[in-house]
Amino acid sequence: MSLTFLALFAGAFSLLCFYLYLKHNYWKRKGIPTVKGCVPLLGHMLPIIRKRINFSELIHLAYKEHKDHSMVGIYKGTKPVLIIRDPNLVKMVLQNNFSNFHENGLKILPEADPLLAKNPFFCYGEPWSTGRKRLTYAFSNVRLKTLFVAVSGVCKKFEDFLNRRLKTSNKYEVDMKTLFLRFTSEVVTNAGLGIEGYSFEDDAGASAFHKLVGSTFTESLRTIIAFHYPSINRLLKFNVLPKSVDGLFRKTVSENLKIRRNASTPRNDFLQLMIDMEKTGEVIDEETVSAHAVSFYLDGTETSSITLNFIAHNLAAHPEIQEKLRKEVRSAIEKHGGLTFEALKDMTYMNQVISESQRLHPGLGFLHKTCTEEFELQGSDGLTYRIKPGTEIVISVSGLHGDSNYWVDPDVFDPERFNDERKQTIEKMTFLPFGEGPRICVGMRMALLQMKACLASLMNNYKLELSPRTQVPLQISPHYFMSEPIGGNWVYISKL
Ligand code: HEM
Repeated sequence: MSLTFLALFAGAFSLLCFYLYLKHNYWKRKGIPTVKGCVPLLGHMLPIIRKRINFSELIHLAYKEHKDHSMVGIYKGTKPVLIIRDPNLVKMVLQNNFSNFHENGLKILPEADPLLAKNPFFCYGEPWSTGRKRLTYAFSNVRLKTLFVAVSGVCKKFEDFLNRRLKTSNKYEVDMKTLFLRFTSEVVTNAGLGIEGYSFEDDAGASAFHKLVGSTFTESLRTIIAFHYPSINRLLKFNVLPKSVDGLFRKTVSENLKIRRNASTPRNDFLQLMIDMEKTGEVIDEETVSAHAVSFYLDGTETSSITLNFIAHNLAAHPEIQEKLRKEVRSAIEKHGGLTFEALKDMTYMNQVISESQRLHPGLGFLHKTCTEEFELQGSDGLTYRIKPGTEIVISVSGLHGDSNYWVDPDVFDPERFNDERKQTIEKMTFLPFGEGPRICVGMRMALLQMKACLASLMNNYKLELSPRTQVPLQISPHYFMSEPIGGNWVYISKL
């Protein structure tokens, strides 16, 4: 009996070994170099599961270790994933052959995450193009000008908050990410949902909307499974958006709709726009409006506050660049008689500072696509690979942004790289902070508007200095799939 069991066990074990051998040699058979460190069954995901690095850093390391190759393979578990390094291949995937790669790689299960699944980032086909068209309209120039009224009000609250902090002491030491999250959350709640965010109320701020939402996208095993292993998640049904946050948005939207149905004058915010678009006769689909609210909130707060965090760090670390930016801000404000929409447009050096900071520290260090139609990828080094539907492709944004083949002294913070003249010489597809092609970030203009307004307020009134609490050089946290410095980015703010 025990001998039969042993034989069966040995047979099953040998079969498993053979299966894993076949799976983990896929790239070798295809003639594509493989990143070292593949572990049976887990592939290259072990350091992520052990929280040593995040997914973005894994792809970045692979990019750096394979300088001479246009493509390199990794395994997400047993699933082969292709990393493309060549800007020409990036262009084929993101732009020229978009129809072959139109799905994003990170997935959401609609049954587990009904609100999040409606975000255009997780949609494709007809729902994607409809959602995208709506957002493109929502962030058109005319609409942005309307939204700016609310953004400008938030700048005022922001300055009041800092002035209160600076009443008792001449320097306010703060982790800038938390400060910027107050700002972006207030913008989204005011300009987006038409409600008070209470983001600048006080330190505890338990009623503040951003505290209620909390941190949605930590890199837990749950989110790793939900995002990266949709077939396993069809069984486990892990949700990414916590149930409490799902409920909070449904409740906020439902209460807001009731108020708006009875209001005599329509509001001028993002939610109103979505409601108007969702109207079918007199019936409003509340779930879809709630989904738009979630999308606007999550897309609008986290990415922009992360980006602002790194910009503030770079400005605090480079006082001469901070001073140059301040001069530009003050002269534009003087010219336009205040911090207006037009004044922001004139702040072109600020655009350079933002771009250079995004180059050094992209908020999202990778782009993740899925092949939807067979295609032959041909690298400049002679490597070719016929990619099949379902195969995932990853682009290391951090890798391209820090590659000395495309950037002189890539580790140096130099906003002059993005001046009118030198901008022309930047190789296409090597600068991707907002992605590229038909899926390029649809909120880019909104993001720039709120970030520029926030920076203009800061530069006009305050000085930033690095606090010794900040660990320099910044190390990126392995607990988050976007970029966040370990230990925080502590800065002293003082009044000018
Ligand atoms: C600094 C702030 C921001 C950064 C760095 C950023 C970055 C990105 C990136 C890298 C993508 C993926 C592009 C691709 O797959 O090729 C993306 C997509 C997207 N972003 Fe942003 N984003 C920012 C702000 C915003 C804001 C404010 C909104 C809206 C309120 C927004 C809404 C979206 C949406 C809906 C998509 C999906 C687009 C699609 O798949 O068609 N983003 N963003």
